[in-house]
Amino acid sequence: APLLQPGPEPTYHSQQAYAPEDNFTAKWTRADARQIKRMSDPTAGSRQNSMPAEYTMPSVPQDFPDMSNGQVWVWDSWPLTDADGNQYSVNGQEIIFSLVADRSLGFDDRHVFAKIGYFYRPAGIPAEQRPENGGWTYGGLVFAEGVTGQIFEDQSYSHQTQWSGSARIFPGGEVKLFFTDVAFYRDAKGNDIKPYDPRIALSVGHVHANKNGVKFTGFDKVISLLEADGTYYQTAEQNPYFNFRDPFTFKDPAHPGETYMVFEGNSAMPRVSAKCTAEDLGYQEGDPYAETVPQVNASGATYQIGNIGLAKAKNADLTEWEFLPPILSANCVTDQTERPQIYMKDGKYYLFTISHSTTYAAGITGPEGVYGFVGNGIRSDYQPMNQGSGLVLGNPSNLNYWPGTPYDPDYNQPAGHFQSYSHYVMPGGLVQSFIDTVGVKEDFRRGGTLAPTVKINIHGDSSEVDHSYGFNGNGLGGWADISANLNVNPSGVI
Ligand code: FRU
Ligand code: FRU
Ligand code: FRU
Ligand code: FRU
Repeated sequence: APLLQPGPEPTYHSQQAYAPEDNFTAKWTRADARQIKRMSDPTAGSRQNSMPAEYTMPSVPQDFPDMSNGQVWVWDSWPLTDADGNQYSVNGQEIIFSLVADRSLGFDDRHVFAKIGYFYRPAGIPAEQRPENGGWTYGGLVFAEGVTGQIFEDQSYSHQTQWSGSARIFPGGEVKLFFTDVAFYRDAKGNDIKPYDPRIALSVGHVHANKNGVKFTGFDKVISLLEADGTYYQTAEQNPYFNFRDPFTFKDPAHPGETYMVFEGNSAMPRVSAKCTAEDLGYQEGDPYAETVPQVNASGATYQIGNIGLAKAKNADLTEWEFLPPILSANCVTDQTERPQIYMKDGKYYLFTISHSTTYAAGITGPEGVYGFVGNGIRSDYQPMNQGSGLVLGNPSNLNYWPGTPYDPDYNQPAGHFQSYSHYVMPGGLVQSFIDTVGVKEDFRRGGTLAPTVKINIHGDSSEVDHSYGFNGNGLGGWADISANLNVNPSGVI
């Protein structure tokens, strides 16, 4: 276990399960999140990683190959899965969905131009025998122009984008694509005329795969499933910069017959009057490193109130959903708990989510990366993994210095500080992510393609990077290596 610097003790979390409908929300507390800094080496010098190797993603080289062969920027990506997170190939083709944008745009302008595209490649080839860039063929966009804009009552949007989600395969090649359908209303200068409108949405299509490639039919209609409600999930009225997106659906063996969804939200408090509580701080009685509630609420930390939502399907077609209370909040900890997923292992429920070094609240720091929480049910008193901190896999970072930004990294940050993001944990502990920025302040390269796959070993409430994974002895697997673990009709004979 890493050496801990002086600091507060983490909050006690029982991991006890509650019914999915119960009004219990686990808290990723400030006391928990401050364990991240306790694990950081205060003597790490400029451009050195200050974080423990077991929780640090191996360094991504700057000479990375581009999986799209120059066709599109690629970032958040997800495989075709079933209700248990298994990844499928169909008739011999592996298929992934990715947010894509035109390469004529600056990489940081991508969010308001994002569209869902897809890639495919032949299944069953070991990573080391594939082309270096992963060997994917870009299949194009999933939706025809105009389809995803139709759900918005106000058609005067300036930008209409498709943000992250997840894709589920059903018998007969039916694919239910859950995603975030977003309308922006901006003037010519890029200022909001009114707040953006993100909705959790579904479109249904069919996959057609053979040895020549993959095509989809359908995906010509979008059903709006959920809009933030202001009770559990913050709305635009409460905060024009609210986060509400990234649906991931799954089944829970403890509740057969039901389908659930986790997604990114914010705690439903008005931005200007949000307050954190003693429970959000989570300090143990008499902890000499504790902060007081008034101190924290006066610090600006109340602008960062991320949560992870839960919803339950009301019908078998998964076209009607109801909100349940959030399963996790990160009040006064971080503003973004993105792309959440539920992952089951050894009877435990793991909740993984990604967060940014730049979305932490005042007084909290941590690397870009994936964070994990473990409990005995989908709703439980989640224990943040790894010394109670929540950190599972962070980019090489130096917490003694400011992060900077992906377009202007801080001088003192190691080359990997923004190397990748949007980590998604796959079967067997494999983790994929996209490359954002690799390099140091005076010499860096923007990504827009998927990073090498890495592996974490998960046991109980801890995990560590598997440095023996990959084929170059550095813990890095293939670039853009997202493989199926289940193959539907692998011979491809239709
Ligand atoms: C109720 C229940 C509870 C248990 C929880 C586990 O639906 O089965 O008995 O605590 O769900 O998910
Ligand atoms: C099509 C398109 C694509 C591009 C995407 C992102 O509508 O212009 O060429 O990849 O939208 O803007
Ligand atoms: C930072 C970010 C993303 C989000 C987008 C919103 O990159 O906050 O997390 O999707 O910008 O525009
Ligand atoms: C993560 C993310 C997602 C969002 C998308 C928008 O990288 O911020 O939360 O759906 O990117 O580009």
